[in-house]
Amino acid sequence: MTSPIRLSRLHVAAAVLAGALAAATPASAQPDPETIVNAFEAVLGPVRTHRPSHPKGTCAAGHFTATPEGTRLSVAPVFSGQRNSAVIRFGVAGANPNASDTARGTRGLSIRFESPAGELFEMANISAPVFGAPTPQALVDGLLSRANDPATGRPNPERAAAYAAFVAANPSVANQGRFLAANNPPASFATTPYWGVNTFLFRGQDGQVRPARWVFEPRAGVARLTAEQMQSMGPNFLADELRGRIAAGPVEFDMVLQFPGQGDDLLNPTVAWPEDRPRTVVGRLVVTSVEAGPGGPCDPISFMILDQAPGIEMSDDPVLQARAAAYAVSLSRRTP
Ligand code: HEM
Repeated sequence: MTSPIRLSRLHVAAAVLAGALAAATPASAQPDPETIVNAFEAVLGPVRTHRPSHPKGTCAAGHFTATPEGTRLSVAPVFSGQRNSAVIRFGVAGANPNASDTARGTRGLSIRFESPAGELFEMANISAPVFGAPTPQALVDGLLSRANDPATGRPNPERAAAYAAFVAANPSVANQGRFLAANNPPASFATTPYWGVNTFLFRGQDGQVRPARWVFEPRAGVARLTAEQMQSMGPNFLADELRGRIAAGPVEFDMVLQFPGQGDDLLNPTVAWPEDRPRTVVGRLVVTSVEAGPGGPCDPISFMILDQAPGIEMSDDPVLQARAAAYAVSLSRRTP
């Protein structure tokens, strides 16, 4: 695992870079990272002790090794084919650190990879193929539509109506909700796919840049709670289930790249690409141990590094563009 000294240096660097990135962002293009995190806090109140998103989580460790196809498709150190160590966080979506594990909503798989030479790469994925906002502004507007107006102590009806009109005009915003309504929550952190949702640009050994999205497919297969289990399972079963499973052997996921076809939207993470698009396995994530309790080495990590590795570069997806700086601001607020 990465040493605490290295983590705190990264934390400082992230905060500095977040400032630089915020200054470089045209105000008209998207909300700055402070505004984004303020919108979370407008709904939740100041968040200083935990993440404003996926606050409930379980920290684990393992390793990741690229397949030869992964090495061919990306020059990033993480895809060299050597074994990378991994700090892994499984999370439960929402804003409540005591959320129930049986609730409809996404589960998270966040990973910090560290190459043998010490290069870092981070990602945060969800158990749904799409996100709930097409732009950072839509995310902020959605949050603020639910926030209490300080003057009245209640949500502002005009804001709520404006956001409802936006949703009506942009029906793909509801795609994530539709997926979650049609698919019960996973029976285990180890039995759901986790999608990266945003489009990244993979720079291959041949110099070609290929847009792609990724999904981590569970090698144990997909298993979801039945309607009866959604009533009968306890609110905190997922962490213990994972510990028990790993005591019997590692939990594994295949990292699969999906490539777009003609006309697929590269920039809108509320729209999934059709199932029949070409896919290829680029690596294997192996989870080998789980922390005894909550927290642990995952706490000081935001799982969205600012300086993206060469070889896995950011597309122009506005949601992706907004994430890293907002995560850095959030990290600096909750880990003073
Ligand atoms: C504009 C878009 C987004 C914003 C502003 C945003 C913001 C945030 C923030 C502030 C955190 C907490 C960071 C921390 O304190 O460490 C977070 C965590 C998280 N987000 Fe996002 N997010 C966005 C999009 C997404 C998308 C598209 C995904 C799915 C791929 C996602 C998945 C997650 C997960 C899984 C976590 C928990 C990470 C962990 O385990 O620590 N987010 N997000």
